[in-house]
Amino acid sequence: MKKVYITRSMPKITEQLLSAAGFAVKTFEHDRVIDKQTLLCESVNADAVISMLSDKVDNDVIVAASSGRCKIFANYAVGYNNIDIVAAREHSIYVTNTPGVLTDATADLTWALLLDCARRVTEGDKLTRCGEFTGWAPLFMRGVQVTGKTLGLIGAGRIATAVAKRACGFDMKILYYAREAKPDFEQATGATRVDLPALLSQADFVSLHIPLTPDTRYLIGEREIALMKPTAVLLNTARGPVVDEQALVEALRSNRIFAAGFDVYEHEPALTPGLAELDNVVLAPHVGSATFETRDAMARLVVDNVISALNGEVPQNLVW
Ligand code: GLV
Ligand code: GLV
Repeated sequence: MKKVYITRSMPKITEQLLSAAGFAVKTFEHDRVIDKQTLLCESVNADAVISMLSDKVDNDVIVAASSGRCKIFANYAVGYNNIDIVAAREHSIYVTNTPGVLTDATADLTWALLLDCARRVTEGDKLTRCGEFTGWAPLFMRGVQVTGKTLGLIGAGRIATAVAKRACGFDMKILYYAREAKPDFEQATGATRVDLPALLSQADFVSLHIPLTPDTRYLIGEREIALMKPTAVLLNTARGPVVDEQALVEALRSNRIFAAGFDVYEHEPALTPGLAELDNVVLAPHVGSATFETRDAMARLVVDNVISALNGEVPQNLVW
């Protein structure tokens, strides 16, 4: 019987589908990130590994896996910056991700953060619970308007498209920055392509929808934030290291920008000192894809990829 190792507890459907397909399933028994030693040992013994975005599948892990029978690391995420795909390709181990199925959930969370930042929902909730709401007042808790404003999207992929579609209901003007022009994206969203400085200086809401690569690490730092409007909001539902978090803390502390809404962090799950003390930031715990429906759909896709690889086929979501 071929063995599938899962590095963390997943929706029940995962094991049901894998068992029905005739595979033996073993899951890391603790509800925490798997340690490297266990990952190395289990990878040697598995035919397939289902990995999490928080697992570091580096060259050592790939080499260990290739010394056994491992055919695939199926990542339970759309992002795969946690995996050394060059090493995996060299050792003929497939790496797959879960595109498409988490697009809407992630776009919804982006909008939750956008509206929360603009209208200070979480900040107001905290204040109300503390008994600091002493009654309506003309100058109390003013935020920034969303309707009619300019949305600046960095990236023009599936998630950026879904975020842009939601902006139609708010009559927003949409700008985007991408290395190449994306005619399909422009057609679907009415967005206009501009360079990064133009986007940063014109947008009221700047939202990141790009993968983490050597090119996008620290794409947004002190210099970039300095170009933003003092009334602007920065949103990150992509990957933490795309933003220099220290520069962000300083910008928020000095009210250089109005607010930020983040779901991902540079040193996840740790926060840069000072971030948690600020009122003008909304901090979600990396839950972009965390709906019951989406996490099940991601599980089905991961299982499809594992089954293909173990049946000697090229899996549909191969990333290298
Ligand atoms: C979540 O961050 C993902 O990449 O799926
Ligand atoms: C990721 O799924 C993207 O294309 O935005």
